[in-house]
Amino acid sequence: MTYTTHPTADELFDISDDRLRERASLKWSNVDVDVLPAWVAEMDVHLAPAIIDALQNAITRHDAGYPGSAEGVTQAFSDFARDRWNWNIEPDQVSIHVDAATAAAKLMRHYAGADRSVMIMPPVYNRFYDWLDVGGVRPVEVPLTDVPNGGYFDLDGIEAGLKAGTKVILLCNPHNPLGRVFSRQELSELAELAERYDAVVLSDEIHAPLVYHGVEYSPWLTVSEAAANTGIAIHTATKSWNFAGLKCGIAIRSTTGPWPDDLDPKTSLTDSGFWGILATEAAFSQSRDWLDTVREHFEAQTGRLTQLLAEHLPEVKFHPPEASFLAWLDFGDTDLREEPSEYFLREARVALNPGTRFGAAGEGYARLNMGTSAQRLERIIKAMGKAWPPAA
Ligand SMILES: Cc1ncc(COP(=O)(O)O)c(C=O)c1O
Repeated sequence: MTYTTHPTADELFDISDDRLRERASLKWSNVDVDVLPAWVAEMDVHLAPAIIDALQNAITRHDAGYPGSAEGVTQAFSDFARDRWNWNIEPDQVSIHVDAATAAAKLMRHYAGADRSVMIMPPVYNRFYDWLDVGGVRPVEVPLTDVPNGGYFDLDGIEAGLKAGTKVILLCNPHNPLGRVFSRQELSELAELAERYDAVVLSDEIHAPLVYHGVEYSPWLTVSEAAANTGIAIHTATKSWNFAGLKCGIAIRSTTGPWPDDLDPKTSLTDSGFWGILATEAAFSQSRDWLDTVREHFEAQTGRLTQLLAEHLPEVKFHPPEASFLAWLDFGDTDLREEPSEYFLREARVALNPGTRFGAAGEGYARLNMGTSAQRLERIIKAMGKAWPPAA
């Protein structure tokens, strides 16, 4: 693609199926050639120009060794957090890790109490279950309530789990797969409980740069004193700027909250992806226009999806997300008697993520990835609509 100074969403997402099938990353390379992939959270987008420059400059320098410094990326993230979220962070509160998964697993291993449990609130990002395995801890599941209307904390269930001895809550905000952005009030109620029972909250906030206009997003560490006293936040640029394969996770501690000294940046920096660090700095500092264009596109995709579902799959329910590019489709009130993703892969040649990968609470649901062009989203839903309704 030749870049204009400010590429439009149509330009950024204008990539043919053939070109996408040339990609070796997971989304397009792991489906048959007649399948439209709408599963794993990768976008069908061109990278931001500043990220391309950062990577091309590294190649020109033949510069692919260990990361030399975390200063640039730390500053870039802190500036972004201040400018976008009014969140003031000092450099010594930030540390750089391989990715969100690695940071979270280490922290869960460190803070899990005697019963080695970590609380999660399904349906939730499928890999949380893998992270817990890696961290050597077991899940205590407190499902979100009222999922068809967005998904809410079950504060009584959470308190019961904390009372029973769970010492870590792994929170996902903005939430994958529901796209929910929890309000300051909701987060502050959770923080009070965490503080009362001396628990640590690991707040995975990696979808935060893609919160939609008009939606209030509160970084955990800014919510309240109780939140700052209990929390560690995890961020990345890899999800919002679409370079998950490059690897770079950012953990932010508070000045009054928990932090294990053995996770200090000096010990983890050389584990991180060097090009992931370069791309992350370029993302937070020089790729904000790209981000805004992509975010507006996802807001528009949400509207398109609502209309397309009404037209082609009218019984399927969908609560519009408040962030990011994932849609949680509810087949509970339909006549479909089999696992939705299996049905649509076979009948429509569309690949979705099965809801049950996000916990047992995901039964009867499927996750759809809207991170593609308007045209391809339409093709996906029309293909699903052609296979609808299921034969009785
Ligand atoms: C909520 C959430 N956390 C973490 C990740 C992955 O982060 P990383 O690749 O840095 O481990 C994803 C990927 O989709 C995600 O949705």
